[in-house]
Amino acid sequence: MFTPLDIELFMLVSFVIASSIILYFILNHGKPYAIFFYNCFLKPFSGKVTSVKQQDSLESFYKGQAAIYDATRGQLLRGREEMLALAAAQLKLRVQKKKEAESTEGRVWVDIGGGTGYNIELLNKFLPVQQFFEKVYLVDLSPSLCEQARQRFRRLGWKNVEVLCMDARGFNLEDRKVDWISMSYSLSMIPDFYSVVDSLSILLSPTGLISVADFYVQSSTTFSERTFTGGAWDRHVNWFSRQFWRIWFEFDRVNLDEGRRDYMEYKFGTLLNVNGRNRLLGGIPYYVWIGCQKLHSAADVLDRVDAAATESPYLAAINSLSSTHSSKTSAETALQLRSKGFEAAVLNLAANLPLPSFFYQIHHWRLYYDELLEKHTQFNNSYIYAFTWEDPRVDHRILKINRDDVILAITSAGDNILSYIIDGAPKRVHAVDLNPTQNHLLELKLAAFSSSLDYKDLWKLFGEGHHEKFSTILMENLSPHLSSRAFQYWWDNRAVFSKSIGLYETGQSRLAIKAARWLFRCCGVAGSVKRMCEARTMNEQREIWQGEVRPVMLSRWVSKFIIGNEQFLWRALGVPPNQRDMIREDHEGGDHAQAMWDYVVNTLDPVVDQGLLGEDNYFYLLCLKGFYTKRCHPSYLTEKGHAKLSKPHAFDGVRIHTDEIKEVLGRLQSETLTIAVIMDSMDWFDTDGIEARRQIKALNNSMKLGGRVLLRSAGLRPWYIRVFEEEGFKAKQVMARHPGAYIDRVNMYASTWVCTKLERVSSGRRESSSSEVDMLEI
Ligand SMILES: C[S@@+](CC[C@H](N)C(=O)[O-])C[C@H]1O[C@@H](n2cnc3c(N)ncnc32)[C@H](O)[C@@H]1O
Ligand SMILES: *[C@@H]1O[C@H](CO)[C@@H](O)[C@H](O)[C@H]1NC(C)=O
Ligand SMILES: *[C@@H]1O[C@H](CO)[C@@H](O)[C@H](O)[C@H]1NC(C)=O
Repeated sequence: MFTPLDIELFMLVSFVIASSIILYFILNHGKPYAIFFYNCFLKPFSGKVTSVKQQDSLESFYKGQAAIYDATRGQLLRGREEMLALAAAQLKLRVQKKKEAESTEGRVWVDIGGGTGYNIELLNKFLPVQQFFEKVYLVDLSPSLCEQARQRFRRLGWKNVEVLCMDARGFNLEDRKVDWISMSYSLSMIPDFYSVVDSLSILLSPTGLISVADFYVQSSTTFSERTFTGGAWDRHVNWFSRQFWRIWFEFDRVNLDEGRRDYMEYKFGTLLNVNGRNRLLGGIPYYVWIGCQKLHSAADVLDRVDAAATESPYLAAINSLSSTHSSKTSAETALQLRSKGFEAAVLNLAANLPLPSFFYQIHHWRLYYDELLEKHTQFNNSYIYAFTWEDPRVDHRILKINRDDVILAITSAGDNILSYIIDGAPKRVHAVDLNPTQNHLLELKLAAFSSSLDYKDLWKLFGEGHHEKFSTILMENLSPHLSSRAFQYWWDNRAVFSKSIGLYETGQSRLAIKAARWLFRCCGVAGSVKRMCEARTMNEQREIWQGEVRPVMLSRWVSKFIIGNEQFLWRALGVPPNQRDMIREDHEGGDHAQAMWDYVVNTLDPVVDQGLLGEDNYFYLLCLKGFYTKRCHPSYLTEKGHAKLSKPHAFDGVRIHTDEIKEVLGRLQSETLTIAVIMDSMDWFDTDGIEARRQIKALNNSMKLGGRVLLRSAGLRPWYIRVFEEEGFKAKQVMARHPGAYIDRVNMYASTWVCTKLERVSSGRRESSSSEVDMLEI
């Protein structure tokens, strides 16, 4: 595939890049780096490569630079601090949880290839090392680095740290199990890593934690079919980089072969996995990984998660499946309905692989999904809604959600899911979204509450949309409450919460905010808009709207270029063509642009005319200002909402599905849902009715008798209502937005409907399933 010339060229380019990096560092950082590079690349390795013992070669490498080791590694060994912070956050949470349960036996930490002990001292930033651990072992093969470490702990006066100068292959602690094992940049240096990793899996306690930060290179062809790696965000390294870094590091006997990381992920379960590039050093790929024992909790967790995901009764007998760790057959004889996560898990168990990482998480909110399916990747890793565009106050008024409800609702930005929990405390909420990142956003919110983030910080994150310490909060507070994929996403997108971007300036919904802002500025009414948002009386607000803002916002010009523009509608407002057609149909006579125009006028005029924007309408306030105010915001941002959601177990009933609604319904036990809030999603279906009918049938199957589907539509009487009626629902239009009507604070949909499941066709099957429903509580 590659000619000798390619290879030569490749080596030449590598050499030039490498020399530039070296020069850059020597020029910028002076002497320590000169020593470092001399030792790394110029000084010949002592001893013949064939006969030399690893210790001698390590020593020849590190002896000359032991004293400057720490000074030179800060830039080079990225991810160490993150690894420590992430592991510390997990450990703290585990201890908290354990306290509720049982013993406080002394904790043990082992740092394999710990070098100068830098990491152990650094951990103190996150956890008090002397109090938290009864004993810390640093295991390292290089005598000169061990000496540095001893000096360090003597200087610090830490008596619980023991430095052991030995090969990691030989390390064990008799019958003592350890709570945490860390390896930072040492896995890639250990020749016999298989035996070391194996012995670590024996050393680690059943509930222990293991963490690695290291360099790596890998091609997606090797990992793309694994369901257990916790997400593959940014993991692929291109061909050139793979060759370059592999060869480059081989000079220093650092092995970037993918087998090392793969073997860890195979021997342990994955909790968190992130990939990064050290941009400062030409983009060396590195990763941070947090793992746990692969099987300890599998037996228990698997069925529980599954039962809750499918609304099946949780039968202890099914446990036999996981305790024998195998047998697809017992899965088949068990209940027919299984979540996709369960299916993936069973396949992995049969192949002796770890479970998908969702199963090892502390919370089991998020359910497994296959991130590589096109139906998920079509969203290009970005959310459409940074905030939810439906009024939950009306939902509560219509539905009167209570403790007995089992709800299925579209996630969107998660705001309404939180509102249902605050005001209704339903038994279960299935949040469904096909776009993985919408669910990542909900997860982030759940994590903020579960980690007992202060109200002040919560407000900054989701009220103002930015927080100067987001990275720190993400790592130290939120990380143990997030699934690996959500963590990867937010870690990579942490700039979203920076001052220069802001949450509400992201997602496709930002286009609406940006367009409005741009328009106001261009037309010189930005000041008026500001005053309108601050108006204290309706009259004041109406005057500003009628006299100053409306002439601009609802000018013919806007109508022509923006509202009539299909691209804009679809992308900024999330209005798909089918929905647009429904709007046209309701409009008698007149042209298409006129129909859209009237629709917008009917939406906006009543909003400004009948409610105070700055007091009560956080939807439009956000669009106009780009952030919420202390006077006006969604309920999860109130102090009361914060207090309620921060309580332990507040989200025990939440399940987050990344899939189509009908797929989720298809895997729920029949007659379990009492409420489904499907927003305007039915408007998106093709009017041939095939898909719509399929979904409505699925709804009928999953809903209890008397269960209600709440939906909104851009049409006054959408075509699919008839299908609901044919499938056994009684449909009632609970609100219609005739010209001038203000039906909810968003006022964007022409009608709101409740479809109630009525029909009961007698059959033996139903009786049996109703007895199952009684056992629902797990
Ligand atoms: C790049 S250093 C990392 C040191 C430290 N963990 C850090 O992050 O700064 C790799 C360390 O692994 C140690 N090491 C390499 N092979 C080893 C082995 N077989 N047993 C124990 N330690 C080993 C080396 O001595 C060296 O200190
Ligand atoms: C995602 O990207 C592709 C190709 O760049 C584009 O065609 C598609 O419209 C994008 N999808 C969304 C939802 O932005
Ligand atoms: C709706 O579901 C019930 C079972 O809950 C079933 O008896 C009935 O036949 C279904 N309705 C239709 C029209 O299929």
